[in-house]
Amino acid sequence: METQELINKRRIFGIISHPDAGKTTLTEKLLLHGGAIREAGTVRARKNSKYAKSDWMEIEKQRGISVTSSVMQFEYKDKVISIMDTPGHNDFGEDTYRILTSVDSAVMVIDAAKGIEAQTKKLFQVCSMRGIPIFTFINKLDRQAMDPLDSMQELEDVLGMPSVAVTWPIGCGKEFEGVYDRLENEVHLFRKEQIVKLDKDGVHSNILEGLLSATNLDNLRNEMDLLDGAGNFFDLEKIKAGKLSPVFFGSALADFGVTEFLEHFLKMSPAPGKRKTISGEVEPTDETFTGFIFKIQANMNPNHRDRLAFLRICSGTFERGMNVTLSRTGKQIKLSQSTHLMANERETVDIAYAGDVIGIYDSGNFQIGDTLTAGKEKIFFEPLPTFPPELFCRVSAVNSLKGKNFQKGVHQLAQEGAIQVYTNEYNEVILGAVGVLQFEVFEYRLVNEYNTDIRMDHIDFTVARWVKTTDTDELKKYQNSRCMLVFDHYERPVLLFTNQYALKSFQERYEDVKLVDALDVTEEV
Ligand code: G4P
Repeated sequence: METQELINKRRIFGIISHPDAGKTTLTEKLLLHGGAIREAGTVRARKNSKYAKSDWMEIEKQRGISVTSSVMQFEYKDKVISIMDTPGHNDFGEDTYRILTSVDSAVMVIDAAKGIEAQTKKLFQVCSMRGIPIFTFINKLDRQAMDPLDSMQELEDVLGMPSVAVTWPIGCGKEFEGVYDRLENEVHLFRKEQIVKLDKDGVHSNILEGLLSATNLDNLRNEMDLLDGAGNFFDLEKIKAGKLSPVFFGSALADFGVTEFLEHFLKMSPAPGKRKTISGEVEPTDETFTGFIFKIQANMNPNHRDRLAFLRICSGTFERGMNVTLSRTGKQIKLSQSTHLMANERETVDIAYAGDVIGIYDSGNFQIGDTLTAGKEKIFFEPLPTFPPELFCRVSAVNSLKGKNFQKGVHQLAQEGAIQVYTNEYNEVILGAVGVLQFEVFEYRLVNEYNTDIRMDHIDFTVARWVKTTDTDELKKYQNSRCMLVFDHYERPVLLFTNQYALKSFQERYEDVKLVDALDVTEEV
């Protein structure tokens, strides 16, 4: 098969939602349709217990949430689809954000009764910031739901994103009778499992009389008139540019509306496209193999102490055993151990293409954001953004004899990007996170993997700003109870402030000091 064809077949999307909106159930149904799993309950089992095989996932089990994220690949018709699961919880971490830097589109699952919840909003902002197309699946129509017109309005009001309904619900809860597919002009009946093709009169066609309850039909006609008159028009270009969100309604649990969603999604979502590098762009069809690492997960199997780097392939063909160059260090690395990331079943990958995500076993060479290339030219993909932490704590080993283990753990977790690590002028270790769960994971892993009990004290800082200077002696003078100087993992100076007010008064006082919001990981000050 031509490379172009192989690439066009690929779709890679992140699935985001507030907990309990139905992300796991929808993922499971998609995998079932693709034949990747044979029975319902497989993904759920993973969520609940089976997956807790590897120890540090105990936290997931205890908290009932997904701390890590995995990639699930399946084939549907002529497409190869990769779903990137993202942890969706108040306590989410930087990982969640980074996953979204590696996908080409996102699917947002919303509970039809609850509407948009805080967490979904945050993740949505990350997608829209990066121009990633967002598909909305409004779930649980088999239960009592909000008025669908209100749901649409909420999308626009809360997320500020214009949306267009592709399918539309006919009733909800006990009265749920199916969905109307506006693009195909078909009514899909829920309990009767029947598809009714409509004529040019659409929902006003006589065919529907007697097929739907009078109230549902009446509502459907009114709602369609309203949407046709005042709603947004379907515009594929806008959808692909992430400026218009197509909306689908259904019930993941009842597996209704899911196929409709999947079919449309595959037509509307972008295939892997070009990626920016520091000096230009890489096309997926370029022959030279290139890719970047967006996630590193260590000690997935406590017996092996392995580290797995998640690699998004951007161009060329990956062949197991190939030699690549790690751009950051110039080091040649043989990629001999590679794996699919389908749930917890690890299967060796021999060949993979642009638009695939694979796992590479790593003995400590890689960092998040690293570019790998099989070419002679040194290239760097645009650095992944560092998200400014808002929570900080001071951490130390309870037993000073364990200092070496402690340092090793801190260093490795910082390299993995599990948490931000800073040191201050007294060599104290300060951790920074975007979600408190990151602290919990940190503590759990130091105790369990590095055999070190730690003491963690929350400190009252909420804002971090990198400073564009090399004169650190000068910086020390700025410190007071509301401002602390620390150094990040790359030894770049960072000022921590207690709150926005402290930051503002600092800026007013020292106008000449250039503060930067969130520096890219590899950018030098
Ligand atoms: P999440 O991954 O987004 O956290 O949500 P998940 O799929 O785990 O679903 C959360 C709960 O909502 C589950 O019920 C699930 O069965 C239910 N659910 C998901 N989709 C639908 C739907 O379309 N309709 C209805 N009525 N319920 C749905 P649970 O009681 O927490 O778990 P379980 O006992 O069913 O496993």
